[in-house]
This record gives sequence, C-alpha cells and structure tokens, in this order.
Amino acid sequence: MAIRTRFTEMFGVEHPIAQGGMQWVGRAELVAAVANAGALGFITALTQPTPEDLAKEIARTKEMTDKPFGVNLTILPAITPPPYAEYRAAIIESGVKIVETAGYKPQEHVDHFKAHGIKVIHKCTAVRHALSAERMGVDAISIDGFECAGHPGEDDIPGLILIPAAADKVKIPMLASGGFGDARGLVAALALGADGINMGTRFCATKEAPIHENFKQQMVANDERATDLIFRTLHNTARVAKNAISQQVVAIERAGGAKFEDVRELVTGARGREALQGSGDTDAGIWSAGMIQGLIHDIPSCHELIDRIVSEAEDLIRGRLNGMLVSGAARVAAE
Ligand SMILES: Cc1cc2nc3c(=O)[nH]c(=O)nc-3n(C[C@H](O)[C@H](O)[C@H](O)COP(=O)(O)O)c2cc1C
Repeated sequence: MAIRTRFTEMFGVEHPIAQGGMQWVGRAELVAAVANAGALGFITALTQPTPEDLAKEIARTKEMTDKPFGVNLTILPAITPPPYAEYRAAIIESGVKIVETAGYKPQEHVDHFKAHGIKVIHKCTAVRHALSAERMGVDAISIDGFECAGHPGEDDIPGLILIPAAADKVKIPMLASGGFGDARGLVAALALGADGINMGTRFCATKEAPIHENFKQQMVANDERATDLIFRTLHNTARVAKNAISQQVVAIERAGGAKFEDVRELVTGARGREALQGSGDTDAGIWSAGMIQGLIHDIPSCHELIDRIVSEAEDLIRGRLNGMLVSGAARVAAE
C-alpha cells in the first residue's frame, strides 16, 4: 500500500513527505537519504558558500541517489545579498528539476525557474502569501504553522487553523509544515486538506543529518516547551531551540527598545554553525528547532523514519479511523 496524493503525483515521489531547506543541515548526505527513502529532500543553496560549491553539492547528491530531489533557495532581505542570480544559474545548469523558494518577493526567481521547466514549491506562513505565490505561477505551496522551526511569520496562526484555512482557498497542491514528525501528524495534515507534510526539525534528529550528535540527543531530551521566539520585537520572529543564548536574546528584547546591534554578537550564524558542525556545544549559539521536539524520542535513519510514518499512517487510516465509522444499520442497532 502507498499513500498517493497530488504531491506524490506532481513531484514523482513515493511518499507525501518533504524535507524542507535547512541552513547548515540540508546537505547531500541528508537529501540523498531522504530521496532514497522515497520522500523529497532539498539541498539548502545558501549553506554552500558559493554557486560553484552548490553545483558540486548537487553533483555529490546525484552520486548518492538517482531519485528526485530539489534545492531550497531562501531569499532574505540583506544589505549585501548573496549572488542570487548565480545561485539560480547553478541550480538550472545542474539539471535540478524541483526548487523550494522561501522568503521575500520570489517573482523573478519563480519566473526564471519556470522558464527552464523547473517545478517550484513556495514556502510561506500566511494564506494571503500562499495565494499571491499561486498567482505568481508556482506549482505548489508549503505552508508553515506557528509551531515551526525557523521563521513562522508574525500572525501566530497554528497549523490546526492555518492549514484548512489555506486549503479552502489554495487550488494547487499544498504541503502542511510546522510541527510534523509522525504518522498522526501526516494523517491529520491530509484530513485538514493538505497533500502531504514538510518536516525540518524531525529530519535533524536522524542518523544521516550532518550535525553533531549532541544536537540530536538534545532534541530527543527536549520537550514541546523547549523553544524560544527571538526577534519578535524586530518583527522578524524566529523559533529556535531554547538554550542559554536564546534566553539572553529574549531577556534583551523584553527589556525594551532592543535593536539588532544589541543581539548581533549572540546570534551570528558563525557561532551556531561552529557548534552544530564542530564543538557540539548546544549552548554556544542559536539553532533552529520547533515544538515537534516534544514528539521526538529517537534518532532513526531517514529510511526507518519515513517507512514508520507511512506504515503507521496507513494503519491509522485503515484501523483507528475506519473503525470509528458506523454504518446506518449498526448505528440504529447500537442506539
Ligand atoms: C536547523 C533548521 C534550519 C532551517 N533553515 C531554513 C532555511 O534556510 N530556509 C528555509 O526556507 N527554511 C528553513 N528551516 C525551516 C524548515 O525548512 C521547515 O519549514 C521547518 O523546520 C518546519 O517546521 P518543523 O521544524 O516543525 O518541522 C529550517 C529549519 C531548521 C530546523
């Protein structure tokens, strides 16, 4: 048995599960493992220091899998933006057929990718943004509820409302994202109107995730309360794992009147990256993680994780949900 949805059909993957772009984590090892397990993984373009490095990372992934995979391009407002056009060219020239865009004003990127026959999934955190991406011509939407790791936006709408609200209006295939990690989440997402799920944090706690073991163990140890929302006062909210640094940032923001300069040293990407890939000190910097940590109890391989989610989802649908249905005659007899 398999679960077939508009997402599996459109992207030619076996299971309705994606591994979204993740800074420092979305590398060849993880993406290929996700692809080989029948789901859709994304290399994170900006984790690679240059467009040439991205091309090499795509080639490395192709050596490890012959299944479909994609590249995430996260568009952030920056004083000196990365050379987006060159990253885009690297993606197109490498023959990648699926791109996940995230962030601000993706139009020029979407147009360029579409002109080269690339399918685009746009990530967003609000129904109005999903509709505007749909108008821009993207092929699918990935919508993140307030539970998610990274940037949940400023509306604070959890998935239980956001996903059906989006499903009511968005016509193209849609992935539910934020707070998913097991079969119950997948079945719920499908019931809410999504065509599959996107997971970030849960994939960080897998054997193949290229991060220090301490972070994986910390995610297993953490419960659902172990996140902080930083940059709230700067209107650029990010959900990160609660640790010594995130608590300092929150305290500075709560004191009032904080500017980015006041927290810059604490939140530098270099601190987080060095800890994730080097020292393994989970209190050394900021790292993204979501509320789903409360439902993470082990560190499986991607294959084990994806197989488990899909087979338990099938059991849930066939067993628990189907078992609750009572036919007309049986209902009368029971009454
Ligand atoms: C470590 C980490 C880094 C992330 N970096 C990015 C990124 O660079 N670009 C992006 O679009 N999303 C990023 N995300 C968000 C994920 O793609 C995904 O939308 C999110 O994790 C879903 O919520 P979940 O963690 O509850 O599954 C990141 C998430 C994590 C956990």
